[in-house]
Amino acid sequence: MSLTLSVIGCGYLGAVHAASMAELGHTVIGIDTDADKVEALNKGNAPFFEPGLDELLQKTIKTGRLRFSTDFADAAGATVHFLAVGTPQLTDSHAADTRYVDAAIGALLTVLSPGDLVAGKSTVPVGTAAALADRISAAVPGAILAWNPEFLREGFALKDTMAPDRLVYGLPEGESGQRARELLNEVYAAALAAGTPLIEADYATAELVKVSANAFLATKISFINAMAEIAEVVGADVTLLADAIGHDARIGRRFLNAGIGFGGGCLPKDIRAFSSRAAELGRSESVAFLAEVDAINLRRRQRAVDLAITAIGKRPSEARIAVLGLAFKPDSDDVRDSPGLDVATSLLRRGAHVVATDPQAIENARRLQPRLDYAATAEEAAAHADAVVLVTEWADYRALDPVALRAIVTSPIIIDGRNCLDAGAWRAAGWTYVGMGRR
Ligand code: UGA
Repeated sequence: MSLTLSVIGCGYLGAVHAASMAELGHTVIGIDTDADKVEALNKGNAPFFEPGLDELLQKTIKTGRLRFSTDFADAAGATVHFLAVGTPQLTDSHAADTRYVDAAIGALLTVLSPGDLVAGKSTVPVGTAAALADRISAAVPGAILAWNPEFLREGFALKDTMAPDRLVYGLPEGESGQRARELLNEVYAAALAAGTPLIEADYATAELVKVSANAFLATKISFINAMAEIAEVVGADVTLLADAIGHDARIGRRFLNAGIGFGGGCLPKDIRAFSSRAAELGRSESVAFLAEVDAINLRRRQRAVDLAITAIGKRPSEARIAVLGLAFKPDSDDVRDSPGLDVATSLLRRGAHVVATDPQAIENARRLQPRLDYAATAEEAAAHADAVVLVTEWADYRALDPVALRAIVTSPIIIDGRNCLDAGAWRAAGWTYVGMGRR
């Protein structure tokens, strides 16, 4: 059965969720306070790059089942309200800024009716849901809160939303828990029918599932990057090492790609917020390793900068360096805490003339770093370069022809910040190939 849903907050998570739920047959109103964003979404234009999203928006808007509004009153009448606002890192601490969650709940209280469900999707410090549930039931007796974390990856967001690898419901006890379960089962009927595993839990577990999943992924990446640091000292090759340990199914090869590390709007801020929350709970030591995970991660960006400058062998101020990639990962235009943008900026700070490019993220990068030079293509960026630094493994960059590129650079030096190139092919074409933790 199809339901009427609202999605509060139409950033990455909310816009994707709204369009995906409409595609599944539900009627959806997306609410956001940003009028420009709402206008663009109503025209079927996502305010960020996500493969397939514009097409899905246009398709579902045409059915009449999806629209966006700045007016909270338009959320009235929905049975399930998804909370999808951001929880960025506070500027003066590592903790999450939950003010948008609080504001969204405040606004929702004006439209909720008894029996309505609020389904929290935002990544929040553990304990938030219990407090919000008290607030909701005090203001609107009979309205219910569930916590329903989201695990979508940028670049795969539509698939991850419509066919997730698991569903998690954090439910209250008793009758309200039963109603929440039934409503969420209707929302996700298609995924459940396809056999998607469902884990039902309490609020705290559901909140912790989300942050611990991201903490684990971050730890896995920093683990392999720590091995890269050791490999560099002893002349070993971290890619072969990852292949070898990855064959053990208990370890697994995914998320073991060493390079310049993780970035984006989630992993970095989530591990910091988790540490901060653990400290509030008196359990700092339980996740003290996350500070090391963060430190290893940031060191790898610096390492790429040092490798580039050493390889060039002249003063950075005399060098022109091409940086390929600005998005925090391929198939995204997101530059939040982007390792690649960080590397480009550090090289600039060291005095180099940096010419950076990216298939999608130039505009976003330019807003943050107007002092970098931007080129439209890899070839334009690489022309006359003293070194080329690959920092985001876009398919286009992986497919670059080392022979053709060799003809346009000044010095054939390639720093492979993502260990994604065929070192042998680049060396055979006359390049000095420098990987991260590779021979
Ligand atoms: C991450 C999680 O993977 C999602 O499950 C989660 O829902 C999301 O955060 C979130 O909390 O919203 P995302 O930020 O889209 O998703 O990006 P990832 O694919 O996890 O990549 C994160 C970073 O790790 C990227 O900078 C990527 O380049 C880097 N990475 C990834 C590596 O350096 N090595 C790897 O082996 C894998």
